[in-house]
Amino acid sequence: MIRQLLEMGEDSPLTRTDLIALLNEDLAGEYQAIISYVVYSQTLKGAAYMAIAAELEKHAAEELAHALTIAAQIDYLGGSPETMPNLVKTSAKADEMLRFDLENENETIVRYRQRVVQCEALGEYAVAELIREILVQEQDHQVALATALGEPVPDLTHRSLPQQGRAIGTTVIN
Ligand SMILES: [Fe+2]
Ligand SMILES: [Fe+2]
Repeated sequence: MIRQLLEMGEDSPLTRTDLIALLNEDLAGEYQAIISYVVYSQTLKGAAYMAIAAELEKHAAEELAHALTIAAQIDYLGGSPETMPNLVKTSAKADEMLRFDLENENETIVRYRQRVVQCEALGEYAVAELIREILVQEQDHQVALATALGEPVPDLTHRSLPQQGRAIGTTVIN
């Protein structure tokens, strides 16, 4: 991610305005996470999934705390917090719900790792510190979901972000 920043070149360093826009994308992701965890924690069916359903309920509350923190940083930087969540995918299948959550957490972790570097490049060390604290919880979420799926925790070292534009609303995938 440091290389990505360097590749932006000295002619186009990240600005405060860019950081506000990126944090607003993060906020839209946090809203999506709140909705996903609220819905999934209450609709996961099957005895095998009861423990993870309780865990997802805890995640919902943590995602709300993240949204509040990110919104506060956007306000501090002089921006206006986003109001629309990213697209929420739903499924009747428990393992698919967990898969959607895990993919979202993976993407969120990659985004926040980049954000820490970007905040520090702008001298916004306190914002970077707060995002580090969120990152610790996102990695806990990732571990919980991977464990529930019976998989090793994904290695995100070389993971890049999807390039498509932002989707909003809800889609049911069966
Ligand atoms: Fe979050
Ligand atoms: Fe999370």
